[in-house]
Amino acid sequence: MVKKAIIPAAGYGTRGLPITKVIPKEMFPIGVKPAIQYIVEEAMEAGIEQILVIVSRSKSMIVDYFDESLELETFLEKSNKQHLKGKLDIPKIQLYYTRQPYAKGLGDAIRLGETFVGNEPFAVLLPDDIIVSKKEGAITELIKQYEKKRASIVGLKKMEWNQLHQYGVIGGKKETDGLYKIDNIVEKPKADPPSNMAVVGRYVFTPAIFPLLKSLQVGKGGEFQLTDAIQDLLKIEQCFGKCITGERFDIGKVEDYLDIVLKMKKE
Ligand code: UTP
Repeated sequence: MVKKAIIPAAGYGTRGLPITKVIPKEMFPIGVKPAIQYIVEEAMEAGIEQILVIVSRSKSMIVDYFDESLELETFLEKSNKQHLKGKLDIPKIQLYYTRQPYAKGLGDAIRLGETFVGNEPFAVLLPDDIIVSKKEGAITELIKQYEKKRASIVGLKKMEWNQLHQYGVIGGKKETDGLYKIDNIVEKPKADPPSNMAVVGRYVFTPAIFPLLKSLQVGKGGEFQLTDAIQDLLKIEQCFGKCITGERFDIGKVEDYLDIVLKMKKE
């Protein structure tokens, strides 16, 4: 069973500047909730019981948000606004935090979770990828496939060919149920992507990924790339991709952020 998850939230959010100077993109409001809360709730719905959030010096707002607010609760009580207290409810799940000293890449962030994860399969959810699903959440879809295959599974979405240079892209064989057996994976291919199936921010990994994360060399963009560790994993274990059914919004992109805010307003 997959019971633990990592949410890496220590990036600089450069595409969201200038607001990300002071507000982490993971805390961007979507309605009255911050983006990261949708991710925590998606994990909880999938049966995740403990989450490690990777933060950094400038992300204390995330830690504060998921804390109790006793002062505010007392104020609401004293000022006869008890009916608003429910709005302060925080998701009932065990959250842990660790700091990534420098944003050296997703591969570097995930490897900080080794002690937390131990020798179990675990989920990774990127908090800037909001996936709106009609039925089950994206990470539930991946965990279900993990239960069948007992192998690492990455979330996939079909993209326009001219967009693939922005993503990790897999090559592999299609099976049934939107599942792909991955043969290779390339980070941000400049030319000749192996398919039009791109990796989106949901994963389930076996713990075999950790030694590979630790021996990573600096990759594309001068960062430790999770994609490179997955490519190494393919040499020792089978890995699969699952085409997720929900609609994906990358809130690191201003247009996607505005789209999801509007979408949530209508629903
Ligand atoms: P992104 O690459 O989308 O986020 O990483 P970023 O680096 O913050 O954004 P840009 O590209 O500069 O605009 C996906 C997720 O992984 C986290 C980010 O916080 C984001 O939620 N991340 C990324 C880390 O925790 N550490 C890193 O070193 C890099």
